[in-house]
Amino acid sequence: MNFEFTEEQLMIQQAARDYAQRELIQDVLERDEKAEYPTRHVKNLAELGFLGMMVPPEYDGGGMDTISYVLAMEEIAKVDSSVAVIMSVNNSLVCYGLNKYGTEEQKQKYLKDLARGDKIGAFLLSEPEAGSDATHQHTSAKDMGDYYLLNGTKNWITNGGTASTYIVMAQTHPEKKHHGINAFIVDRNTPGITVGPHENKMGMRSSDTHSVMFTDVKVPKENRIGEDGFGFKFAMLVLEAGRIGIASQALGIASGAFERATAYAKERKAFGTEIANHQSVAFKLSDMAVKIENARNLCLKAAWLKDNHQPVTVASAMAKQYAADIAMEVTTEAVQIHGGYGYVKEYHVERLMREAKLTQIYEGTSEVQKIIISRAVLKG
Ligand code: CAA
Repeated sequence: MNFEFTEEQLMIQQAARDYAQRELIQDVLERDEKAEYPTRHVKNLAELGFLGMMVPPEYDGGGMDTISYVLAMEEIAKVDSSVAVIMSVNNSLVCYGLNKYGTEEQKQKYLKDLARGDKIGAFLLSEPEAGSDATHQHTSAKDMGDYYLLNGTKNWITNGGTASTYIVMAQTHPEKKHHGINAFIVDRNTPGITVGPHENKMGMRSSDTHSVMFTDVKVPKENRIGEDGFGFKFAMLVLEAGRIGIASQALGIASGAFERATAYAKERKAFGTEIANHQSVAFKLSDMAVKIENARNLCLKAAWLKDNHQPVTVASAMAKQYAADIAMEVTTEAVQIHGGYGYVKEYHVERLMREAKLTQIYEGTSEVQKIIISRAVLKG
Protein backbone atom coordinates (compact mmCIF):
# COMPACT_ATOMS: atom_id res chain seq x y z
CA MET A 1 0.00 0.00 0.00
CA ASN A 2 1.34 3.40 -0.96
CA PHE A 3 0.07 6.46 0.91
CA GLU A 4 2.34 8.92 -0.91
CA PHE A 5 1.12 11.38 -3.49
CA THR A 6 3.04 11.96 -6.70
CA GLU A 7 4.74 15.28 -7.49
CA GLU A 8 2.00 16.03 -10.00
CA GLN A 9 -0.80 15.31 -7.54
CA LEU A 10 0.83 17.59 -4.96
CA MET A 11 1.22 20.36 -7.56
CA ILE A 12 -2.46 20.16 -8.45
CA GLN A 13 -3.40 20.24 -4.78
CA GLN A 14 -1.20 23.30 -4.26
CA ALA A 15 -2.63 25.10 -7.29
CA ALA A 16 -6.17 24.54 -5.99
CA ARG A 17 -5.17 25.65 -2.49
CA ASP A 18 -3.52 28.80 -3.79
CA TYR A 19 -6.52 29.73 -5.90
CA ALA A 20 -8.98 29.07 -3.07
CA GLN A 21 -6.99 30.87 -0.38
CA ARG A 22 -6.05 33.87 -2.55
CA GLU A 23 -9.06 34.36 -4.81
CA LEU A 24 -12.19 32.52 -3.72
CA ILE A 25 -11.90 33.75 -0.15
CA GLN A 26 -12.10 37.39 -1.22
CA ASP A 27 -15.74 37.50 -2.25
CA VAL A 28 -17.19 34.25 -0.90
CA LEU A 29 -19.22 35.95 1.85
CA GLU A 30 -20.62 38.58 -0.48
CA ARG A 31 -21.58 36.05 -3.13
CA ASP A 32 -23.24 33.88 -0.48
CA GLU A 33 -25.22 36.88 0.80
CA LYS A 34 -26.31 37.99 -2.67
CA ALA A 35 -26.67 34.47 -4.14
CA GLU A 36 -24.46 35.73 -6.96
CA TYR A 37 -23.05 33.34 -9.58
CA PRO A 38 -19.20 33.14 -9.46
CA THR A 39 -18.66 34.01 -13.14
CA ARG A 40 -15.07 35.20 -12.71
CA HIS A 41 -14.05 32.13 -10.72
CA VAL A 42 -15.60 29.66 -13.15
CA LYS A 43 -13.61 31.31 -15.94
CA ASN A 44 -10.42 31.16 -13.88
CA LEU A 45 -10.98 27.51 -12.96
CA ALA A 46 -11.37 26.74 -16.65
CA GLU A 47 -8.01 28.39 -17.30
CA LEU A 48 -6.45 26.31 -14.51
CA GLY A 49 -7.80 23.19 -16.25
CA PHE A 50 -10.09 22.35 -13.32
CA LEU A 51 -13.32 21.93 -15.27
CA GLY A 52 -12.29 18.92 -17.33
CA MET A 53 -9.60 17.53 -15.07
CA MET A 54 -9.97 13.83 -15.90
CA VAL A 55 -10.80 14.17 -19.59
CA PRO A 56 -7.97 12.90 -21.83
CA PRO A 57 -5.88 15.60 -23.52
CA GLU A 58 -7.12 14.56 -27.00
CA TYR A 59 -10.50 15.93 -25.94
CA ASP A 60 -8.93 19.06 -24.46
CA GLY A 61 -9.01 17.84 -20.86
CA GLY A 62 -6.31 17.81 -18.22
CA GLY A 63 -5.68 14.05 -18.35
CA MET A 64 -5.37 13.99 -14.55
CA ASP A 65 -6.31 11.11 -12.28
CA THR A 66 -9.19 10.93 -9.81
CA ILE A 67 -6.84 11.26 -6.82
CA SER A 68 -5.77 14.68 -8.10
CA TYR A 69 -9.42 15.56 -8.52
CA VAL A 70 -10.17 14.62 -4.88
CA LEU A 71 -7.23 16.75 -3.69
CA ALA A 72 -8.32 19.75 -5.76
CA MET A 73 -11.98 19.45 -4.76
CA GLU A 74 -11.08 19.36 -1.06
CA GLU A 75 -9.10 22.60 -1.36
CA ILE A 76 -11.78 24.43 -3.33
CA ALA A 77 -14.59 23.26 -1.04
CA LYS A 78 -12.68 24.29 2.09
CA VAL A 79 -13.36 27.84 1.00
CA ASP A 80 -16.34 27.83 -1.36
CA SER A 81 -18.68 24.93 -1.98
CA SER A 82 -20.75 26.78 -4.55
CA VAL A 83 -17.74 26.86 -6.85
CA ALA A 84 -16.91 23.26 -5.87
CA VAL A 85 -20.31 21.94 -6.94
CA ILE A 86 -20.13 23.70 -10.31
CA MET A 87 -16.75 22.05 -10.77
CA SER A 88 -17.99 18.67 -9.56
CA VAL A 89 -21.05 18.47 -11.83
CA ASN A 90 -19.06 19.54 -14.89
CA ASN A 91 -16.19 17.14 -14.18
CA SER A 92 -17.68 14.06 -12.69
CA LEU A 93 -21.18 13.89 -14.11
CA VAL A 94 -21.11 15.63 -17.48
CA CYS A 95 -17.53 15.26 -18.76
CA TYR A 96 -17.11 11.82 -17.21
CA GLY A 97 -20.42 10.58 -18.67
CA LEU A 98 -19.64 11.86 -22.16
CA ASN A 99 -16.06 10.68 -22.17
CA LYS A 100 -16.94 7.20 -20.97
CA TYR A 101 -20.20 6.57 -22.84
CA GLY A 102 -20.38 9.13 -25.67
CA THR A 103 -19.68 8.41 -29.34
CA GLU A 104 -16.65 9.93 -31.08
CA GLU A 105 -18.96 12.46 -32.79
CA GLN A 106 -20.58 13.40 -29.47
CA LYS A 107 -17.16 13.88 -27.89
CA GLN A 108 -15.93 16.05 -30.73
CA LYS A 109 -19.09 18.12 -30.73
CA TYR A 110 -19.72 18.51 -26.98
CA LEU A 111 -16.97 17.15 -24.75
CA LYS A 112 -14.12 19.37 -25.91
CA ASP A 113 -15.93 22.63 -25.11
CA LEU A 114 -17.00 21.26 -21.73
CA ALA A 115 -13.53 19.98 -20.85
CA ARG A 116 -11.97 23.36 -21.64
CA GLY A 117 -14.69 25.03 -19.58
CA ASP A 118 -15.74 27.12 -22.58
CA LYS A 119 -19.15 25.64 -21.96
CA ILE A 120 -20.70 24.31 -18.76
CA GLY A 121 -22.81 21.19 -18.46
CA ALA A 122 -25.68 20.03 -16.26
CA PHE A 123 -27.07 16.58 -15.38
CA LEU A 124 -30.86 16.43 -15.43
CA LEU A 125 -32.18 13.38 -13.60
CA SER A 126 -34.23 14.69 -10.65
CA GLU A 127 -37.86 15.59 -11.14
CA PRO A 128 -40.61 17.02 -8.92
CA GLU A 129 -41.77 13.46 -8.21
CA ALA A 130 -38.55 11.53 -8.85
CA GLY A 131 -35.69 12.44 -6.54
CA SER A 132 -34.36 9.42 -4.66
CA ASP A 133 -36.85 7.26 -6.56
CA ALA A 134 -35.03 7.92 -9.81
CA THR A 135 -36.44 4.98 -11.80
CA HIS A 136 -39.82 6.75 -11.98
CA GLN A 137 -38.97 9.30 -14.67
CA HIS A 138 -42.01 11.28 -15.80
CA THR A 139 -40.21 13.30 -18.46
CA SER A 140 -41.01 11.62 -21.75
CA ALA A 141 -38.88 11.19 -24.86
CA LYS A 142 -41.14 10.07 -27.68
CA ASP A 143 -39.39 8.36 -30.56
CA MET A 144 -40.40 10.29 -33.71
CA GLY A 145 -38.16 8.51 -36.20
CA ASP A 146 -35.07 10.65 -36.71
CA TYR A 147 -35.60 12.68 -33.54
CA TYR A 148 -37.04 12.41 -30.02
CA LEU A 149 -39.64 14.76 -28.59
CA LEU A 150 -39.01 15.69 -24.96
CA ASN A 151 -41.72 16.84 -22.55
CA GLY A 152 -41.52 17.25 -18.79
CA THR A 153 -39.88 19.05 -15.89
CA LYS A 154 -36.54 18.56 -14.16
CA ASN A 155 -35.89 19.91 -10.67
CA TRP A 156 -32.93 21.04 -8.55
CA ILE A 157 -30.60 21.25 -11.50
CA THR A 158 -27.13 22.48 -10.59
CA ASN A 159 -25.82 24.69 -13.45
CA GLY A 160 -29.41 24.69 -14.79
CA GLY A 161 -29.27 28.36 -15.75
CA THR A 162 -25.68 28.65 -16.93
CA ALA A 163 -25.15 25.33 -18.69
CA SER A 164 -25.06 25.23 -22.49
CA THR A 165 -25.20 21.43 -22.58
CA TYR A 166 -27.70 19.33 -20.71
CA ILE A 167 -27.59 15.59 -20.19
CA VAL A 168 -31.25 14.67 -19.78
CA MET A 169 -32.75 11.38 -18.66
CA ALA A 170 -36.26 10.72 -20.01
CA GLN A 171 -38.68 7.83 -20.46
CA THR A 172 -39.15 6.46 -23.99
CA HIS A 173 -40.86 3.12 -23.31
CA PRO A 174 -42.94 3.40 -20.09
CA GLU A 175 -44.02 -0.24 -20.37
CA LYS A 176 -40.38 -1.26 -19.93
CA LYS A 177 -40.07 0.80 -16.72
CA HIS A 178 -36.44 1.82 -16.05
CA HIS A 179 -35.28 -0.25 -19.04
CA GLY A 180 -37.16 2.24 -21.23
CA ILE A 181 -35.25 5.30 -20.03
CA ASN A 182 -32.82 7.07 -22.35
CA ALA A 183 -30.13 9.69 -21.78
CA PHE A 184 -29.76 12.56 -24.25
CA ILE A 185 -27.36 15.39 -24.92
CA VAL A 186 -29.55 18.45 -25.28
CA ASP A 187 -28.41 21.83 -26.49
CA ARG A 188 -29.71 24.46 -24.08
CA ASN A 189 -30.74 26.73 -26.97
CA THR A 190 -33.15 24.19 -28.43
CA PRO A 191 -36.64 25.71 -28.80
CA GLY A 192 -39.10 24.60 -26.12
CA ILE A 193 -36.71 24.76 -23.14
CA THR A 194 -37.66 27.09 -20.28
CA VAL A 195 -35.48 27.64 -17.22
CA GLY A 196 -37.21 28.46 -13.92
CA PRO A 197 -36.01 31.06 -11.41
CA HIS A 198 -32.83 30.63 -9.39
CA GLU A 199 -33.68 28.67 -6.22
CA ASN A 200 -33.17 30.74 -3.07
CA LYS A 201 -31.18 28.13 -1.17
CA MET A 202 -30.07 27.78 2.46
CA GLY A 203 -26.46 27.14 1.43
CA MET A 204 -24.29 26.98 -1.70
CA ARG A 205 -26.23 30.07 -2.56
CA SER A 206 -23.96 31.25 -5.34
CA SER A 207 -24.21 28.09 -7.44
CA ASP A 208 -27.19 28.24 -9.77
CA THR A 209 -29.97 25.74 -9.15
CA HIS A 210 -33.06 25.77 -11.35
CA SER A 211 -36.00 23.80 -12.64
CA VAL A 212 -35.86 23.16 -16.38
CA MET A 213 -39.04 22.62 -18.39
CA PHE A 214 -39.22 20.83 -21.76
CA THR A 215 -42.15 21.42 -24.10
CA ASP A 216 -41.99 19.53 -27.40
CA VAL A 217 -38.20 19.79 -27.49
CA LYS A 218 -36.75 18.09 -30.58
CA VAL A 219 -33.57 16.14 -29.88
CA PRO A 220 -31.73 14.55 -32.82
CA LYS A 221 -31.44 10.78 -32.65
CA GLU A 222 -27.64 10.96 -32.74
CA ASN A 223 -27.78 12.78 -29.37
CA ARG A 224 -28.95 9.69 -27.50
CA ILE A 225 -26.20 8.24 -25.31
CA GLY A 226 -25.72 4.50 -25.78
CA GLU A 227 -28.25 1.93 -26.92
CA ASP A 228 -32.00 2.44 -26.66
CA GLY A 229 -32.93 1.95 -22.98
CA PHE A 230 -29.42 2.51 -21.59
CA GLY A 231 -30.40 5.78 -19.86
CA PHE A 232 -31.04 4.57 -16.32
CA LYS A 233 -27.96 2.38 -16.21
CA PHE A 234 -25.99 5.32 -17.64
CA ALA A 235 -27.30 7.59 -14.87
CA MET A 236 -26.40 5.07 -12.15
CA LEU A 237 -22.93 4.38 -13.58
CA VAL A 238 -22.19 8.09 -13.89
CA LEU A 239 -23.52 8.85 -10.42
CA GLU A 240 -21.54 6.11 -8.72
CA ALA A 241 -18.33 7.59 -10.08
CA GLY A 242 -19.56 11.16 -9.71
CA ARG A 243 -20.26 10.77 -6.01
CA ILE A 244 -16.52 10.79 -5.38
CA GLY A 245 -16.67 14.48 -6.31
CA ILE A 246 -19.39 15.32 -3.79
CA ALA A 247 -17.72 13.15 -1.15
CA SER A 248 -14.54 15.21 -1.64
CA GLN A 249 -16.56 18.38 -1.50
CA ALA A 250 -18.04 17.30 1.86
CA LEU A 251 -14.53 16.43 3.02
CA GLY A 252 -13.39 19.92 2.06
CA ILE A 253 -16.25 21.56 3.94
CA ALA A 254 -15.34 19.54 7.04
CA SER A 255 -11.63 20.29 6.81
CA GLY A 256 -12.29 23.98 6.15
CA ALA A 257 -14.42 24.18 9.31
CA PHE A 258 -11.83 22.18 11.26
CA GLU A 259 -8.98 24.50 10.25
CA ARG A 260 -11.00 27.53 11.29
CA ALA A 261 -12.06 25.96 14.61
CA THR A 262 -8.47 24.93 15.41
CA ALA A 263 -7.08 28.40 14.66
CA TYR A 264 -9.83 30.02 16.72
CA ALA A 265 -9.31 27.64 19.66
CA LYS A 266 -5.61 28.54 19.78
CA GLU A 267 -6.35 32.29 19.86
CA ARG A 268 -9.50 32.73 21.88
CA LYS A 269 -9.02 32.93 25.63
CA ALA A 270 -11.52 31.96 28.31
CA PHE A 271 -11.03 31.16 32.00
CA GLY A 272 -7.47 32.45 31.81
CA THR A 273 -6.16 30.36 28.92
CA GLU A 274 -6.66 29.63 25.21
CA ILE A 275 -9.81 27.56 24.84
CA ALA A 276 -7.78 24.82 23.08
CA ASN A 277 -6.32 24.11 26.53
CA HIS A 278 -9.75 23.13 27.81
CA GLN A 279 -10.28 19.44 27.34
CA SER A 280 -13.89 19.98 26.26
CA VAL A 281 -12.59 21.87 23.21
CA ALA A 282 -9.44 19.79 22.61
CA PHE A 283 -11.48 16.57 22.53
CA LYS A 284 -13.90 18.08 20.05
CA LEU A 285 -10.93 18.89 17.80
CA SER A 286 -9.62 15.37 18.27
CA ASP A 287 -12.95 13.84 17.25
CA MET A 288 -13.13 16.14 14.23
CA ALA A 289 -9.61 15.20 13.14
CA VAL A 290 -10.36 11.46 13.26
CA LYS A 291 -13.57 11.86 11.28
CA ILE A 292 -11.86 13.97 8.62
CA GLU A 293 -9.00 11.50 8.31
CA ASN A 294 -11.51 8.65 7.83
CA ALA A 295 -13.47 10.62 5.24
CA ARG A 296 -10.29 11.50 3.34
CA ASN A 297 -9.20 7.87 3.28
CA LEU A 298 -12.59 6.76 1.97
CA CYS A 299 -12.49 9.40 -0.78
CA LEU A 300 -8.96 8.48 -1.81
CA LYS A 301 -9.73 4.76 -1.75
CA ALA A 302 -12.75 5.28 -4.03
CA ALA A 303 -10.62 7.46 -6.33
CA TRP A 304 -7.85 4.87 -6.40
CA LEU A 305 -10.34 2.12 -7.30
CA LYS A 306 -11.74 4.25 -10.11
CA ASP A 307 -8.27 5.06 -11.43
CA ASN A 308 -7.46 1.36 -11.38
CA HIS A 309 -10.67 0.42 -13.23
CA GLN A 310 -12.11 -1.48 -10.29
CA PRO A 311 -15.76 -1.37 -9.12
CA VAL A 312 -16.59 1.78 -7.16
CA THR A 313 -20.30 1.34 -6.41
CA VAL A 314 -19.89 0.63 -2.70
CA ALA A 315 -16.67 2.59 -2.15
CA SER A 316 -18.12 5.80 -3.57
CA ALA A 317 -21.39 5.34 -1.66
CA MET A 318 -19.41 4.85 1.58
CA ALA A 319 -17.24 7.89 0.88
CA LYS A 320 -20.22 10.07 0.01
CA GLN A 321 -22.40 8.99 2.94
CA TYR A 322 -19.64 9.19 5.52
CA ALA A 323 -18.06 12.43 4.31
CA ALA A 324 -21.44 14.17 4.06
CA ASP A 325 -22.56 13.02 7.50
CA ILE A 326 -19.31 13.97 9.22
CA ALA A 327 -19.27 17.31 7.37
CA MET A 328 -22.54 18.09 9.14
CA GLU A 329 -21.15 16.95 12.51
CA VAL A 330 -17.79 18.71 12.13
CA THR A 331 -19.26 22.01 10.97
CA THR A 332 -21.80 21.96 13.81
CA GLU A 333 -18.97 21.47 16.31
CA ALA A 334 -16.93 24.21 14.62
CA VAL A 335 -19.83 26.62 15.19
CA GLN A 336 -20.01 25.45 18.82
CA ILE A 337 -16.30 26.04 19.39
CA HIS A 338 -16.68 29.58 18.01
CA GLY A 339 -19.59 30.25 20.41
CA GLY A 340 -21.49 33.41 19.50
CA TYR A 341 -18.94 34.30 16.82
CA GLY A 342 -19.75 31.05 15.07
CA TYR A 343 -23.31 32.20 14.57
CA VAL A 344 -22.37 35.32 12.61
CA LYS A 345 -21.35 35.35 8.98
CA GLU A 346 -17.85 36.85 9.18
CA TYR A 347 -16.44 33.70 10.79
CA HIS A 348 -17.50 31.47 7.87
CA VAL A 349 -18.36 28.41 9.95
CA GLU A 350 -22.13 28.98 9.88
CA ARG A 351 -21.88 29.11 6.07
CA LEU A 352 -19.87 25.88 6.01
CA MET A 353 -22.57 24.29 8.19
CA ARG A 354 -25.27 25.38 5.73
CA GLU A 355 -23.18 24.03 2.86
CA ALA A 356 -22.60 20.69 4.61
CA LYS A 357 -26.35 20.06 4.79
CA LEU A 358 -26.70 19.90 1.02
CA THR A 359 -24.04 17.23 0.69
CA GLN A 360 -26.34 14.88 2.64
CA ILE A 361 -29.09 15.52 0.09
CA TYR A 362 -27.86 15.84 -3.48
CA GLU A 363 -26.29 13.22 -5.75
CA GLY A 364 -28.10 10.63 -3.65
CA THR A 365 -29.11 11.33 -0.06
CA SER A 366 -27.25 9.69 2.81
CA GLU A 367 -30.19 7.30 3.00
CA VAL A 368 -29.79 6.36 -0.70
CA GLN A 369 -26.11 5.63 -0.06
CA LYS A 370 -27.16 3.37 2.82
CA ILE A 371 -29.52 1.50 0.45
CA ILE A 372 -26.58 0.89 -1.89
CA ILE A 373 -24.19 -0.13 0.91
CA SER A 374 -26.67 -2.30 2.80
CA ARG A 375 -27.72 -4.16 -0.36
CA ALA A 376 -24.06 -4.97 -1.02
CA VAL A 377 -23.45 -6.00 2.58
CA LEU A 378 -26.51 -8.25 2.65
CA LYS A 379 -25.65 -9.79 -0.71
CA GLY A 380 -22.35 -10.87 0.83
N1 CAA B 1 -24.46 0.51 -11.87
C1 CAA B 1 -25.10 -0.13 -12.87
N2 CAA B 1 -26.42 -0.41 -12.80
C2 CAA B 1 -27.08 -0.07 -11.70
C3 CAA B 1 -26.46 0.61 -10.63
C4 CAA B 1 -25.09 0.89 -10.76
N3 CAA B 1 -24.43 1.53 -9.79
N4 CAA B 1 -27.37 0.84 -9.68
C5 CAA B 1 -28.53 0.33 -10.12
N5 CAA B 1 -28.35 -0.22 -11.34
C6 CAA B 1 -29.33 -0.92 -12.16
C7 CAA B 1 -29.79 -2.20 -11.47
O1 CAA B 1 -28.94 -3.27 -11.78
C8 CAA B 1 -31.16 -2.38 -12.05
O2 CAA B 1 -31.07 -2.90 -13.34
P1 CAA B 1 -31.82 -4.29 -13.74
O3 CAA B 1 -33.30 -4.07 -13.47
O4 CAA B 1 -31.50 -4.48 -15.18
O5 CAA B 1 -31.27 -5.35 -12.85
C9 CAA B 1 -31.66 -0.94 -12.23
O6 CAA B 1 -30.50 -0.13 -12.28
C10 CAA B 1 -32.57 -0.48 -11.13
O7 CAA B 1 -31.84 -0.56 -9.93
P2 CAA B 1 -32.52 -0.84 -8.53
O8 CAA B 1 -33.44 -2.00 -8.63
O9 CAA B 1 -31.47 -0.89 -7.50
O10 CAA B 1 -33.45 0.47 -8.39
P3 CAA B 1 -34.15 1.13 -7.14
O11 CAA B 1 -35.43 1.70 -7.58
O12 CAA B 1 -34.16 0.17 -5.99
O13 CAA B 1 -33.22 2.42 -6.81
C11 CAA B 1 -31.37 3.75 -6.13
C12 CAA B 1 -31.88 2.40 -6.67
C13 CAA B 1 -29.96 3.43 -5.69
C14 CAA B 1 -32.18 4.24 -4.93
C15 CAA B 1 -31.39 4.78 -7.28
O14 CAA B 1 -32.69 5.10 -7.68
C16 CAA B 1 -30.66 6.06 -6.92
O15 CAA B 1 -29.44 6.11 -6.99
N6 CAA B 1 -31.41 7.12 -6.53
C17 CAA B 1 -30.78 8.42 -6.24
C18 CAA B 1 -30.67 9.25 -7.47
C19 CAA B 1 -29.66 10.33 -7.33
O16 CAA B 1 -28.54 10.12 -6.88
N7 CAA B 1 -30.01 11.52 -7.79
C20 CAA B 1 -29.08 12.60 -7.81
C21 CAA B 1 -29.41 13.54 -8.92
S1 CAA B 1 -28.02 14.26 -9.69
C22 CAA B 1 -27.52 15.52 -8.69
O17 CAA B 1 -27.92 15.68 -7.56
C23 CAA B 1 -26.49 16.36 -9.31
C24 CAA B 1 -26.40 17.71 -8.77
O18 CAA B 1 -27.05 18.60 -9.25
C25 CAA B 1 -25.42 18.00 -7.72
